[in-house]
Amino acid sequence: AQHAERQHILDTLRLSRAQLLEVKERIRKEMVRGLSRQTHKQASVKMLPSYVRSTPDGTEHGDFLALDLGGSSFRVLLVRLRSGKRQIVDMHHKIYSIPQETMQGTGEELFSHIVHCIGDFLEYMGMRGASLPLGFTFSFPCHQSKLDQGILLKWTKGFKASGCEGQDVVTLLKDAVHRRREFDLKFVAVVNDTVGTMMTCGYEDPKCEVGLIVGTGTNICYMEEMQNIELVEGDTGRMCVNVEWGAFGDNGELDDFCTQFDHIVDDCSNNPGKQRYEKMISGMYLGEIVRNVLMDFTAKGLLFRGKMSERLKTRGIFETKFLSQIERDRLAMRQVRSILQHLGLTGSTCDDSVLVKEVCTVVARRAAQLCGAGLAAVVDKIRENRNLNRLSITVGVDGTLYKTHPHFSSIMQETLQDLAPQCQVTFHKSEDGSGKGAALITAVAYRVQSEGQ
Ligand code: BG6
Ligand code: GLC
Repeated sequence: AQHAERQHILDTLRLSRAQLLEVKERIRKEMVRGLSRQTHKQASVKMLPSYVRSTPDGTEHGDFLALDLGGSSFRVLLVRLRSGKRQIVDMHHKIYSIPQETMQGTGEELFSHIVHCIGDFLEYMGMRGASLPLGFTFSFPCHQSKLDQGILLKWTKGFKASGCEGQDVVTLLKDAVHRRREFDLKFVAVVNDTVGTMMTCGYEDPKCEVGLIVGTGTNICYMEEMQNIELVEGDTGRMCVNVEWGAFGDNGELDDFCTQFDHIVDDCSNNPGKQRYEKMISGMYLGEIVRNVLMDFTAKGLLFRGKMSERLKTRGIFETKFLSQIERDRLAMRQVRSILQHLGLTGSTCDDSVLVKEVCTVVARRAAQLCGAGLAAVVDKIRENRNLNRLSITVGVDGTLYKTHPHFSSIMQETLQDLAPQCQVTFHKSEDGSGKGAALITAVAYRVQSEGQ
C-alpha cells in the first residue's frame, strides 16, 4: 500500500508524450505572440531583440574586458583577440564572490562591488587605469534598443538589488565607475548569457544558431528572421532573439502540469508567480522540488520512518551538485546513503536511499523533458522560418546542471528528437563560458561605432 501511495504521488511528476507535445505547441504559440507588435505585451515569453545580427567573421581584434554576472559565479575577464587566418583568443579571468547581502541590497552597492572587482582585476593583470571596451554578460531579461543599452525588466534567480528594475544597466555601471574615478570604460555591450554562449560556440561552428543555458536558471536564444521581429525596423537578414523562456507559464500555461510541490517552491521563491517554466527545470529549483517531495513523504510516514528533521526543513540543502551525484549510474546505495548523511539526513535505511534516488530521477527527468519540448518548439520554428523539410543545426549549451547531470542531456535530446523529428540537432558544450562570446560581440560593435565617428 505504501508503495502504491508513493507511486501515486510520483505519478503527478510524470509527463506523457501528449502533455509534452502540448507544452511544445504552447511555447511555440507564445513565441509568435512575443514577436508580434499587437500581442507582445501580453506574451509570457518576451522574445527580446539582442541587436546581434551575425556570428563572428574573424576580423575582430583588440583587447576587451568582459563581465559575466548572473550565473553561479561572477567573473571578470580579459579577452585578447588577434585577427589572422583564424583568430587567436587569449583569455584571463578571475572569479569573485557576490555576497548574498549584496545581491539583495541596493543597486548602488551591487554595482559598486562589481566596479571594485573590475579595479582589482585590472590591478591583478598589471593594467591599472586602462580604459577598455567591455562586454557585459548580464544574465537577466533586458529590453534593448541598441547593443550598448539594456533596461533591466526584472530580476530573476537569486538577485533582488533595489533600484535597478526599469533602469539601464550600462548607466548603472558607468555611474559606479565614475564614483570610483580609477578607470574608464569606453563602450559597454550588454549581452545575455544565452547570446554569449551562442557566439562562443559559433566561433568554432558556424552552424551554431541557438544558445541554450541550463544552469542556475534556464533560457534560450536563436537567430530569428528580421521580418518576423516586428518591434525592430528592417526586414532583411536575421537577428538573435533572447526568448526568456524561463517566464513561460507565467500566464498559466503550465498550470495543468504543475504539482503541489511546484506551487510550494514558487510560493517560497524570491519571485512568486514568475519564471514558472524555469522553476520546473533549472538548478536553482530542482533540489527544492525534491526536498518538498521528501518532506511530504516523511510527513505521510513513507520515508525516514516518518521522522521529520530540521535539516530536511532547511531551504536550499539540495544543491545541483547533489542532484548530479546521486543519480550517477554506478553509485551504490551505500554511497547514496553517505550523501544523505553528508546532508545531515541521518538514520536513513536502504529503502530510504532507493526512494530518494527515485525522487531525484523523476524530478530531473521531467525537467529534461520539459526543456526538450521547448527546444523542439524553437528548432521547428527555425525550420519553418526557412521553409525547410529538414533542418540541420547546432545548439551551443552551457550551465552547471546540463554539464554535470549524468542523464539530463540524453533525456532532453531523446525528447527533442521525438517531438521535432525533422530537425537534426548537434549539441556543442561551451567550455569557455559566455564571456568570450560577449567580447566578440563587443569587438564588432566597437569597430562599427568607431568607424562611424
Ligand atoms: C556560464 C556563463 O558558463 O554559464 C554564464 O558564462 C552563465 O554567464 C552560466 O550564466 C550558466 O551556468 P550556471 O550553472 O553557472 O548558472
Ligand atoms: C534567467 C534569466 C535569463 C538567463 C537565464 C540563464 O532565466 O532571466 O536572462 O539567460 O536565467 O542564466
